[in-house]
Amino acid sequence: MSDKISSVVDAPPSRLNPRSSGVVRVGVVGYGYWGPNIVRNFAGLENCEVVTVCDKSPAALKRVGRLYPGVQLTTDVEEILTSSDIDAVAIVTPVWTHFGLAKAALENGKHVFVEKPFTSTSQQAEELIELADRKNLKIMVDHTFLFSGAVRKIREVVDAGTLGQLYYFDSTRVNLGLFQHDVSVVWDLAPHDLSVMDHIISEKAEAVVATGSSHLNGHADMAFITIYFPGNIIAHVNVNWLSPVKVRTTLIGGKDKMLVWNDLEADEKIKIYDKGVQITNGQSVYDLLVSYRSGDVWSPKVEQTEALKYELDYFLKCVTNDQVPINDGAAGLRVVKLLEAAEQSLKDRGKIVAL
Ligand SMILES: NC(=O)c1ccc[n+]([C@@H]2O[C@H](COP(=O)([O-])OP(=O)(O)OC[C@H]3O[C@@H](n4cnc5c(N)ncnc54)[C@H](O)[C@@H]3O)[C@@H](O)[C@H]2O)c1
Repeated sequence: MSDKISSVVDAPPSRLNPRSSGVVRVGVVGYGYWGPNIVRNFAGLENCEVVTVCDKSPAALKRVGRLYPGVQLTTDVEEILTSSDIDAVAIVTPVWTHFGLAKAALENGKHVFVEKPFTSTSQQAEELIELADRKNLKIMVDHTFLFSGAVRKIREVVDAGTLGQLYYFDSTRVNLGLFQHDVSVVWDLAPHDLSVMDHIISEKAEAVVATGSSHLNGHADMAFITIYFPGNIIAHVNVNWLSPVKVRTTLIGGKDKMLVWNDLEADEKIKIYDKGVQITNGQSVYDLLVSYRSGDVWSPKVEQTEALKYELDYFLKCVTNDQVPINDGAAGLRVVKLLEAAEQSLKDRGKIVAL
């Protein structure tokens, strides 16, 4: 499992990489739904210069021009890839374009920040990881939630052993839409839950079972994914574009305590329950004694910084300090492998897929 994020974020900038000034010059590809958040946060960071934004759509570029008059605009990605004024490329385009764009960026000596999910296949992810290693370049996959105050707090609580031995991780991410035309709900929404799960559970996932259904556009619009880990830890992810209400709730159960993370709560996003069950043997096997513990509930303080701002600052520091990000290509690959397994199991109506 990865290093603590904060130690890297707080580390002083070295003068090694990519420029002695410590300023990372960035080109952003894709200014659709998510791209504006990437550009806004990069533009607000002191150690970053947004040099160029590229989108195929002139209308999207017009929007960039209005907000950031000093930024160069182009519909031709080659201008970013071949620019000697750009150190890193952020790829904020649909999933099926990630591999080609990331490969071209790495081949041109650029560090890469790429949206989730990393790639469409695990082979593509492996190829990019190998290429980046060979060229000594960084890949960071946008697993945004890892940088939210809530997930940073959950990791702290789990690392401190507060929950005791982990039993389960159960995440629900349901709402009405936004239907994607190129990927299923598994590839669209589940990367969030799976990346958080991967960050919290230190064991290596063993197998996946998924069921689900497609009602409208040929892609699964709801899915129930179960992930098996060694040591009897089990995870479950429920993703659904056909829910009348929005739910963003994760339960993490341990032997000693249980945690509920409700991301829609404004203030008390995390609650820790001193609840549990203990089974002791009486004199015979028929004498099982079950006792329930129901103690205090408390809500630890969660930092409110925008997750993406924290993450992009961390990306810049990883590039400048030559540090491997916690959400590197390997983390992206683990999530892609889980997505592939889930997709395969779903097609086979819940057949178990070993990892
Ligand atoms: N981290 C998160 O929380 C989060 C949230 C939403 C989306 N995403 C991810 O962001 C990525 C983009 O999603 P979106 O919803 O913004 O998609 P979108 O379709 O709204 O926007 C994509 C933009 O990329 C442009 N584009 C596509 N191919 C291009 C190319 N080759 N060169 C230049 N421009 C190109 C399109 O014109 C469009 O403006 C996806 O991978 C998605 O999974 C992440």
